[in-house]
Amino acid sequence: MSRLIVVSNRVSAPADPAAGSAGGLAMALSAALRKYDGLWFGWSGETVDHFTGDIKWEDRAGVTVALVDLEAQDVDEYYNGYANKTLWPLFHHRVDLTAYERSYGEGYERVNARFAEVLRPQIQPDDIIWIHDYHLIPIARDLRRLGVTNRIGFFLHTPWPARQLLVTLPHHRRLVESLFAYDLIGFQTQEWLDLFRDYVVSEARGDLVGDGGLECFGRTVQAGVYPIGIDVDAFIDARNSPQGNRTYDRMAASSAFRSMMVGVDRLDYSKGLEERMLGYEQFLHDNPDMRGDVFLVQVTPISRDEVDTYQDIRARLDALAGRINGEYADMDWQPIRYLNRSYRRDQLAGIYRAARVCLVTPLRDGMNLVAKEYVAAQNPEDPGVLILSRFAGAAEQMGEALLVNPFSREEVADAIKRALTMPREERVRKWQALMKVVRDTDVAIWRDDFVGDLLNVVITGDGDALFHQDPFHHHSQADAA
Ligand code: G6P
Repeated sequence: MSRLIVVSNRVSAPADPAAGSAGGLAMALSAALRKYDGLWFGWSGETVDHFTGDIKWEDRAGVTVALVDLEAQDVDEYYNGYANKTLWPLFHHRVDLTAYERSYGEGYERVNARFAEVLRPQIQPDDIIWIHDYHLIPIARDLRRLGVTNRIGFFLHTPWPARQLLVTLPHHRRLVESLFAYDLIGFQTQEWLDLFRDYVVSEARGDLVGDGGLECFGRTVQAGVYPIGIDVDAFIDARNSPQGNRTYDRMAASSAFRSMMVGVDRLDYSKGLEERMLGYEQFLHDNPDMRGDVFLVQVTPISRDEVDTYQDIRARLDALAGRINGEYADMDWQPIRYLNRSYRRDQLAGIYRAARVCLVTPLRDGMNLVAKEYVAAQNPEDPGVLILSRFAGAAEQMGEALLVNPFSREEVADAIKRALTMPREERVRKWQALMKVVRDTDVAIWRDDFVGDLLNVVITGDGDALFHQDPFHHHSQADAA
């Protein structure tokens, strides 16, 4: 049987899966790695003076993890630089925040080449290799240069940008060409896949071949839609665990008969946090009679704080939350509880369950799993309401949520009012439809569809990647429609 090698910048296999803090993706990939007896390779998160390429091996609950340290210049140019100052904003349609310096591009190429060289000796002939996310796009090309002929798949967790924006990136063609060293490329939504195809056809003069194939740069690869999900049963277990119940009780008590709304997001400008707070402020302004009856718990762990755009958004949010609280709070009520910290998954499940409304309003987002976690945590008899940005990948499947344009304060304010006053019957009906989507897109289905399709790829004599049998991503697309 083929082994599976997973490669990602951040390796999140949990040392203790029972501790309840690991995310669905980490659990799902760990389960696959145990099944396929593979390994998970990536950056240790550590910085050293000089790159050695030595692998630190760990066993994390039966998963073999291979970690490599990077030197400070690598972290600066590859992780903070090209990954998070260039590609992240660009892929989230923020050309205004996209910074490009030649050194970032060089650091990105250098680290990808280094990772490829360190990984090369670990690869056995039958292994399949699954690369994750925007940090590591060129690594397949580098592995090919080192003679690797194994099947290699790539999954992009973020959106893919519109062609008109992608062409603002210096050397955009080289980046896209490097994707053609993969055999299978997966996107979260049909929209991102369509945008990728548009670039390939209109800018790079490639062709669509067959059902999911793309021919360009002298090679045919397969590309499909694989919407990621959560580990539904594990999340429901977390909700029902002692810690989940305790947190629920604590939140219910601290709500004191008020309706609680919740937002949970890394502190990132793509999440639309300012727009959300401004929409909430608009609601408070428009509905004086509802003011003291509602509050927002906004859980926002600090993220990528070495990058200036993240420092800027943090300062703006501090000021905004302070201003809204200062303006509207009363002696026994504060409209926003703004928390720069993270919580364990079981605690989050308890918080979600106690929340009458969840605000997921990114300006652009690959999928957004908070939306799915919130739905999974609800009490089926008396569920809360999900307010979801139409620009989150999740909106392609979760049309029964209250979909909003997060750029419009009035729309957000109106949706909050509608959510808070929605009759139980309507809430139950919407929740049932949403819960079906959450189950139908469970993370195990996502993983097995992608791995199944990668195993299903055959390489022809010309080096093209074709499917042997019908791919799974058809089913995913049908579900998503
Ligand atoms: C997004 C990306 C992931 C990344 C995560 C956390 O979800 O798609 O690849 O790991 O953010 O960001 P960080 O920079 O802390 O790894």
